[in-house]
Amino acid sequence: MDDLFTTIETPTAKYEQPLGLFINNEFRKARSGRTFQTINPTTEKPIVSVQEADEQDVDDAVKAAQEAFNGSWQKVTPSDRGRMLTKLADLFERDSDILAAIESLDNGKAFTMAKIDVANAAGCLRYYGGWADKVHGQTIDTNPESLTYTRHEPIGVCGQIIPWNFPIMMWSWKIGPAIAVGNVVVIKTAEQTPLSGLYAAKLIKEAGFPPGVVNVISGFGSIAGAAISSHMDIDKVAFTGSTLVGRMVLQAAAKSNLKKVTLELGGKSPNIVFDDADIDNAISWANFGIFFNHGQCCCAGSRILVQEGIHDKFVARFKERAAQNKLGNPFDSSTFQGPQVSQLQFDRIMEYIDHGKNEGATVAVGGERHGTEGYFIQPTVFTDVHQDMKIAQEEIFGPVVTVQKFKDEAEAISIGNSTRYGLAAAVHTKNVNTAIRVSNALRAGTVWINNYNLINYQAPFGGFKESGIGRELGSYALENYTQIKTVHYQLGDALFA
Ligand code: NAI
Ligand code: MG
Repeated sequence: MDDLFTTIETPTAKYEQPLGLFINNEFRKARSGRTFQTINPTTEKPIVSVQEADEQDVDDAVKAAQEAFNGSWQKVTPSDRGRMLTKLADLFERDSDILAAIESLDNGKAFTMAKIDVANAAGCLRYYGGWADKVHGQTIDTNPESLTYTRHEPIGVCGQIIPWNFPIMMWSWKIGPAIAVGNVVVIKTAEQTPLSGLYAAKLIKEAGFPPGVVNVISGFGSIAGAAISSHMDIDKVAFTGSTLVGRMVLQAAAKSNLKKVTLELGGKSPNIVFDDADIDNAISWANFGIFFNHGQCCCAGSRILVQEGIHDKFVARFKERAAQNKLGNPFDSSTFQGPQVSQLQFDRIMEYIDHGKNEGATVAVGGERHGTEGYFIQPTVFTDVHQDMKIAQEEIFGPVVTVQKFKDEAEAISIGNSTRYGLAAAVHTKNVNTAIRVSNALRAGTVWINNYNLINYQAPFGGFKESGIGRELGSYALENYTQIKTVHYQLGDALFA
């Protein structure tokens, strides 16, 4: 195996995997010479080692980005930026079997689901390619002596730190809006899943981006991530991950150069089912809401609240439904749930399950490891849950859901809003008035009515309360990647001669 490339064979694709840090459109070694292994969570065995960035490599990437921002990138028209993004989207689609295979290998998600992630990533890049030449300011009529107008200018060098739960989607959600409006990027992938971001870096070059516009580095949060959030020449940082680290990123920004910060953090989202809901529909969405992506979704519907009239019937049927989810090898086409991403996440989740048992909640389904190899956890449903229990307050980020009973609308809203988080929520009812009233009262950035987990890149996504700052996706994301300049041009005589 070369230090910078190796051939990988998966059940669905054989391809050339880059292993280096992608800086200035070249893959290169880390300055320290250090590498780290990435693990296949299905087998618990190492896949390959990739180069590990530290502060010096972050510096190099920032310098490359600055040079591009002040040089070659200035000469590229907005339409051509759009053309590069749409070309990148085409390349994602051309290589979608490879990208999806990498996700299944490195993250453990089902290949069928990974294909949807890649399609979403490509769609998102193309969507922002469309925006590239449609972002502009206003002319403002102030007085007859002046021409006043605004420009929506790029912020500059954007540091982007992404998690492991949707590696290629997070890469695209971050890069799409940043590049569309003329920024340059240093993106750090998660240490658990570095491979798809590096493969996509290869496509950056093929799509025709000038060197230094997009730099992709692999490395650990406490070293490379911290170097990004405290860097004096990074103008903006966008972070997706835990609330704990989100706070650290915000502090580092405050202590360094007050770089602009957007955060997309955790959640403990309520999924509220009223007596009059279509129960089959509610059960399907509740199941998908928590068990999709093995529960590793920031917006997972991890607290199901059911009205007392249908509570027992719902629980009986939901238990059956949860037990039917097929766990297994991600490359098996019938698999719905693969392993958790890492030993650490597996341990954290099993600890929460033990907590739930010790706090007096009832394990209605699951509650144990699945099999003997790989980080698999049984779909787990807790009943007899009280809102003050740890399992009802903290993000578990695994295939674990709590079910609570409520009396009326007021109680549903009160329980729904009683965590630190405010990322998402859902309401299941056939009564339109109830649906709208309750969705208005829920303190969450996204509310789903009679569905769950549906995210479109055309619509904004982000959190109330401690779930984050700013919005990703849609036209709203562009606001986080531009700054407004007001220009006053003197036309007539000076007012204060
Ligand atoms: P994390 O927040 O540590 O990792 C996310 C990203 O932040 C990774 O790229 C990591 O390298 C980076 N990072 C870590 N420490 C950093 C630091 N000091 N400065 C800058 N960057 C840093 O999350 P982790 O440990 O992987 O997962 C822990 C919990 O976080 C999960 O159980 C879940 O509750 C939550 N989480 C939420 C996600 C979301 O989509 N909102 C995604 C991943 C995790
Ligand atoms: Mg891995």
